[in-house]
Amino acid sequence: MIKTWLTDTFNIKYPIIMAPMFLVSSNEMLIKAAEAGIMGCIPALNWRTPEEFEEGIKELKEKCQGPFGINLIVNKSNIHLKKQIDICAKYVPVFYHYFSWKSGEVIKKCQPNGTKVICDVVDVTYAQKVESLGADAIIAVNSGAGGHAGPTPASILIPLLKKNCNLPVITAGGIGTGTGLLSALSLGAEGASIGSPFIATEESPVSQEYKDAVVQYGAKDIVLSTKVSGTPCTVINTPYVQKIGTEQNMVESLLTKNKKLKKYVKMLTYYKGMKLVENAAFAATYKTVWCAGPSIEFINKIEPVKTIVDRLISEYEVALEEFKNKLS
Ligand SMILES: Cc1cc2nc3c(=O)[nH]c(=O)nc-3n(C[C@H](O)[C@H](O)[C@H](O)COP(=O)(O)O)c2cc1C
Repeated sequence: MIKTWLTDTFNIKYPIIMAPMFLVSSNEMLIKAAEAGIMGCIPALNWRTPEEFEEGIKELKEKCQGPFGINLIVNKSNIHLKKQIDICAKYVPVFYHYFSWKSGEVIKKCQPNGTKVICDVVDVTYAQKVESLGADAIIAVNSGAGGHAGPTPASILIPLLKKNCNLPVITAGGIGTGTGLLSALSLGAEGASIGSPFIATEESPVSQEYKDAVVQYGAKDIVLSTKVSGTPCTVINTPYVQKIGTEQNMVESLLTKNKKLKKYVKMLTYYKGMKLVENAAFAATYKTVWCAGPSIEFINKIEPVKTIVDRLISEYEVALEEFKNKLS
C-alpha cells in the first residue's frame, strides 16, 4: 500500500499518473490505466474538434472505472481553448496543463466544479506563480523527461520545489523502474507522471514501427530537436533525424529573429513539425521523427499498460525491502 497526496486525492491504488502524450494517449489506454490502479491523462489536442473532444470525454465518463485527467495547451496557439475549458468544467475530470500566465482564469473556472488543476512547472518561479494563482498541485518536469524537458535533474528539482512552494509535487521524467519511483517518493514527491514507457503498449494507437523503435532504442539514442515544435523536444535519433539535423536551418533561425515575421515563422515551424510527428506516429514512413524520452531504456517489449504498472510496483516493493534491510 502506498499512501500519498496523489492516491488520497484521486482514490487510486498507486501514486502514478500515465502522462498525457500528444497523439499517443488514447481512451483505451486511460481505461486500462484506471483498471491497473493509476490515473491516465490525455491531451485535448488528441481530438480534432471540441465536439469530438466532448464525445471522447463522455465515453471516458462512461467506461473509465476511475479518475482521468485532461491536458490543455493554455496559450494563443490553442484556438479551441475556451470551449475545451467549458467541457472540462462540465464533466469534472482532473485537469492538467502546461504552465501559462493565463492559468489563473482556468483555475477560477474549473475548481468550483470540483476539478483539480495541476500545473506543469520546470522551476521555482513558475511553481510559486501557480501556487499564488490557486493550483492544487504541480508536476515537476525534470531534465530526464520525454517531450519538452526542464533544465534541472529530479534530485535537485523535487527538494528545491518542496522547500520553496507549499503545493504537492509530482515528479515527471525518467521514471521507468520501481527503484526510480521509490527514489522520487524518498525525495518528497507525492507520485510520478510517467509517459515514454507507455508508448510501446498494446493499447497505444501508434504504429508498430514507433513501438518497435521504443523497444529497440535506448537512453543513449535520445536527442533534443527544435525541428518538431520550435522549442527543444526529445526525439529518437533515427537515421532520418540524423539526416535532417536537430537544429533549425539558417534561414529558419534568421526568420525567427525577425520581429515582424517571428510569429508566423514559429507557427509554420510548429505546423510542419506536428505534421511530421503525426505522419511518423501512425504510418510506416521513412521520415521517422518519433518523440520519446530516455526512460525508453527500460522498455524491452510491447506489453499491456497493466503489465507495466504491475512491474513498476513489484520492483518498488523489492527495492523498498532492500532499502529497509540496509537500515537494519
Ligand atoms: C510522445 C510524447 C508526447 C508528449 N505530449 C505531451 C503533451 O501533449 N502535453 C504535455 O503536457 N506533455 C506531453 N509530454 C510530456 C509528458 O506528459 C511527461 O511530462 C513526460 O513524458 C514525462 O517524462 P517520461 O517520458 O520520462 O516519463 C509528452 C511526452 C512524450 C514522450
